[in-house]
Formats: sequence, C-alpha cells, structure tokens
Amino acid sequence: MIIKTLGKGSFATVLLCKDTQTHELFAIKKMNKKALKSKKAGKGKSAYDCVIEELKLLKRLEHPNIIWLHEIIDDQKKDHIYLVTEWLQKGTLGDLVAVKNRVFESPNKAAKEEGRDDEIRFVGLAPNKIRLYFIDLLKALYYCHKVANIIHRDIKPENIGINHNGEAVLIDFGVSADVENRKDDTLEQNMGSYMFFAPEMFLRGQEGGNEIKGERTDLWALGITLYFLLSGQYPWHGAKNPLQLKNIILETDIDF
Ligand SMILES: Nc1ncnc2c1ncn2[C@@H]1O[C@H](COP(=O)(O)OP(=O)(O)O)[C@@H](O)[C@H]1O
Ligand SMILES: [Mg+2]
Repeated sequence: MIIKTLGKGSFATVLLCKDTQTHELFAIKKMNKKALKSKKAGKGKSAYDCVIEELKLLKRLEHPNIIWLHEIIDDQKKDHIYLVTEWLQKGTLGDLVAVKNRVFESPNKAAKEEGRDDEIRFVGLAPNKIRLYFIDLLKALYYCHKVANIIHRDIKPENIGINHNGEAVLIDFGVSADVENRKDDTLEQNMGSYMFFAPEMFLRGQEGGNEIKGERTDLWALGITLYFLLSGQYPWHGAKNPLQLKNIILETDIDF
C-alpha cells in the first residue's frame, strides 16, 4: 500500500509503502526501464545494464551506513523496476540544510535580483552533528571502496539519508548517469550533481581524461558535501555551465 511520495528524480520516484500483512514500512524506488535503457553509459552499455550490475553487488552489501536493499523486483513484462529498501524516516542531509535556509529564501532572492550580493545569507548544520555524520560517511566509503569494490559516483547531501538512530546512510547507488552523456546539459538543470564533480570528471574523452580514479572522485564529492553541510552553500560561485564550473574549480581559491 502506497502512503506517500518521498522523492522524485529524473528516472525514479521513491514511495513510502506499507506491507499490509506485517504493517512494516519500506521505501520503494520505482525506476522507468525504458528511460534507463535509452540512456547510454559507455562501452555499449545502457544505464539500465549498469543499474542491474551494480544492484546485484549492492544486494550483497551489509553496512550500517549504507542503505539496506531488501529486494529487487524486475518483472520482464513490466515497465518499471522496483527497489525495496529501508525507509529513512528523517529524510536527507540535503533536506536538513534546505529547512535551515528556508528563512533566507525570499530575502536572498530579492537581494540577488537587486544585485545586493553581499546580503545573501546561508547557514549550515551544527559542526558537532556534521562531525558524526562525516565519520559515518567515511566508514561507508571505506567499506564501498576497500571491501566491496564499489564506487558510488553521486555523493551529495540529497543522496545521504538519516536513519532512526540519527546516523548518516548512503543512498542512490548505481543510478548515476555517465558524465559524458551530461556534457551538454546546463548547470541549472543538473546543478545538484555537477557541483560535486571533481575537475577531472569534466575532461572525459579529452587528454588525461581517461585516468579518472573513481575512489578519488567519491572523496572529492564528500569534501564538497562537507563544505556544503558546514556553510549551506557550494564552494563555487557564478558558473553557468560545466565548462565555466571546471575553470572556476581549477582557477579560484576556496573561501573558508
Ligand atoms: N530509503 C529512503 N527513505 C526516505 N527517503 C528516501 C529514500 N530513498 C530516497 N529517498 C528520497 O527520495 C529522493 C530521491 O531518491 P534517490 O534514490 O536519490 O533517487 P534519484 O536517483 O532520483 O536521485 C532522495 O533524495 C530522498 O529525498
Ligand atoms: Mg539521488
């Protein structure tokens, strides 16, 4: 039984569902197979092939800071694939930062429109809480990289849930589309993910672009996540497209 929608992405809708027999609550991620199959992910594979491969691995993972995947339901005759996971009732770190910054939303908008940039304000979460979340995330990444040989590829506050114990849990594995296919998208559309890309990820297909080490790009994204949690904003400002963003990352100092 569906209770409500928890989140929506480009390929997926996440629903809160109740098992009518046991009354247990689960989060079910419903993904459109057609959309995933039509998205190329390199080496003759589609995003769907990548999702399936990675989900098989994910099903074997067992770590308190990684989303627990109960079941994958993939009926050949159906248009959707369903991932049944634990429900993270406290939402995501992205939600927590957004809630804190809601009070500044309209004054910030007005200040931006009127060019009063020095009046724009953002706040982060409490450092003592962030410290604990960060320890959880380092444990999760250590397990992914060194034990399970998995790269997350889309680490950001919206992909980090909080469980009933208040611990950080990595979600959204294996569904990150390939950077190569996103090259033409504008930042406005994909702002959330681009801001966490390591500079070498913009070089795919170019000289030096084949030496991308997945583990390092996850760590970079975790670093940007840390900055975002502390300050409520991204370390990079003023980019309108991925190329500008790459230049800003390579050429400007971070303001702490
Ligand atoms: N297990 C869960 N419990 C609670 N909320 C969730 C859960 N999984 C996802 N969500 C919510 O749904 C959103 C989208 O889910 P996600 O797995 O990140 O999909 P997408 O690939 O579309 O980004 C998340 O940012 C979060 O707000
Ligand atoms: Mg996500």
